[in-house]
Amino acid sequence: MAKKSSGGGFGKIFLGFLLGVATVALGLFAYLKFGPLPVAVSDAPLPFEKEIVKLPLNARIERESKTAPFAISEDVFESGAHVYRAQCASCHGTPGHDVGYAKYMFPSAPQLWKKHGTHGVVGVSDDEPGETYWKVANGIRLTGMPSYSHVLSDAQMWQVSLLLKNADKELPRPVTEILNSPTP
Ligand code: HEC
Repeated sequence: MAKKSSGGGFGKIFLGFLLGVATVALGLFAYLKFGPLPVAVSDAPLPFEKEIVKLPLNARIERESKTAPFAISEDVFESGAHVYRAQCASCHGTPGHDVGYAKYMFPSAPQLWKKHGTHGVVGVSDDEPGETYWKVANGIRLTGMPSYSHVLSDAQMWQVSLLLKNADKELPRPVTEILNSPTP
């Protein structure tokens, strides 16, 4: 007898559970369809949107971070500058030249040659080359940042990452000339 009533109780709980799941699913659908979710670039971001996206991204990069297979040299910077000019400058700009639409992307494409903060950081010069390499190789989902692992060679991705690490330094003239040369 006791067994039977506990079986009926379970049935009710299960039914309640199903009903709950259905209500949440329906509510979620109604919110997506009729709610004020931000979909335009000019919409305000969701609360904590930046933090929510950055947390798993940084954790993943930390887990998979690699070190550069070669050291820096003028050759590396020049090769990196060619890669940058051809593949990155259209969104991230070049020294002294901003891209008009970059700030109207969401998230916006940062100018990687601009000084920011109080410690003389230029672009991502405060990030380890391994972090920049990860972003270049894998891209950043739901942003305009493409994945280059099928576009550039491994060496090219390291060259441009090492160049960006040193964006806060005085770079050899040929390097800045390549960066500021007309689009190939
Ligand atoms: C189509 C536009 C576009 C192109 C081309 C592009 N990026 Fe990006 N990139 C973005 C956007 C947008 C973001 C911002 C993503 C975010 O906020 O999470 C970004 C982010 C980054 C970041 C992280 C910046 C930070 O502050 O942490 C790095 C590093 C980067 N890009 C490097 C590159 C390199 C190197 C190339 C070329 C090989 C490149 N990008 C090409 C759009 C682009």
